[in-house]
Amino acid sequence: MLPEIDHIRERAENELASLSTIDQLEEFRIRYLGRKGFVASFFERLSDLPLAERPVVGKRLNEMRDYIRSAYEQRLAETKAVPEKKPLSDPTLPGRHRFLGSKHILTQTLDEITAIFGSMGFSIVEGPEIEDDYHNFEALNFPKDHPARDMQDTFFLSKTALLRTHTSPMQIRVTENQSPPVRVIIPGKVYRNEAVSARSLCVFHQIEGLYVSKGVSFGELKGTLVSFIRQFYGSATRYKFRPTFFPFTEPSADIYIGCFLCGGGGCRMCKKSGWLEILGCGMVDPNVFRNVGYDAEVYTGYAFGMGIERIAALRYGIDDLRLFYENDVRFLSQF
Ligand code: PHE
Repeated sequence: MLPEIDHIRERAENELASLSTIDQLEEFRIRYLGRKGFVASFFERLSDLPLAERPVVGKRLNEMRDYIRSAYEQRLAETKAVPEKKPLSDPTLPGRHRFLGSKHILTQTLDEITAIFGSMGFSIVEGPEIEDDYHNFEALNFPKDHPARDMQDTFFLSKTALLRTHTSPMQIRVTENQSPPVRVIIPGKVYRNEAVSARSLCVFHQIEGLYVSKGVSFGELKGTLVSFIRQFYGSATRYKFRPTFFPFTEPSADIYIGCFLCGGGGCRMCKKSGWLEILGCGMVDPNVFRNVGYDAEVYTGYAFGMGIERIAALRYGIDDLRLFYENDVRFLSQF
């Protein structure tokens, strides 16, 4: 058996010298030093030998095993020390141009609007997109049979849960939890069950504003919103307030600005009217105050709401609202 042992030792030595990867070395270890490897099989045969021969053969076997093990470990250490070869980069290739990203135009618009109201003392709060009937409609003084509650306008998630159709439910959530004075703006996503087209989206953004204190007047509402229009659209912008109806404000108004595309003569953008509607507003209805436990004899306030997509579209002359969500870089990089 002794020559066989020496032979295996020599073979292992030769093989090891030719191995260069960790995987190959692992395979070697299993084949020679593993539980069913060559070395183990020699040890098994030891018991077949006559008693007298065992010490000599056993000693040679031990030496052979120790030798292979240390040679293997040395080779493994050498292999690990050599860093893997990476392909050389070609310095003659042209460089890669890296493009600078920028804020989405809707984010820019939102930032600008919040900065303007921020400078007028409004703080920002946000609220849930999943609402209940009470906050989205009931507490806002919508009559039970109001058409906005219809399945055709509102995405219902269950009998009681729905996706908010405007940011106005936050008027309720804020005033439920805070006593006057309150001066907040609330930006966020809103949802309406409408077919997506150039003029309407089923998900869009609004900013709600609410100011409640003692002695707040319609004059103050006008002053604040006119100041906003001047800062956002320019100081020469023409505007008008037109009476309208919202269940949660009384009196209520829509604000229009002069169409910048035709200058008032009438065009496709303003549907030939010369005016563009930019937001809805009004004095908070006393019923809304009663619903949140405010004394309607003591406090008055105003609220307003505007659609961000619409505001941005009117400012930049964008005639298809879907462009905001297609993420076409040719569109986005213009802003
Ligand atoms: N919530 C109204 C809408 O979605 C806008 C609005 C807000 C009107 C606040 C008046 C006061 O159209």
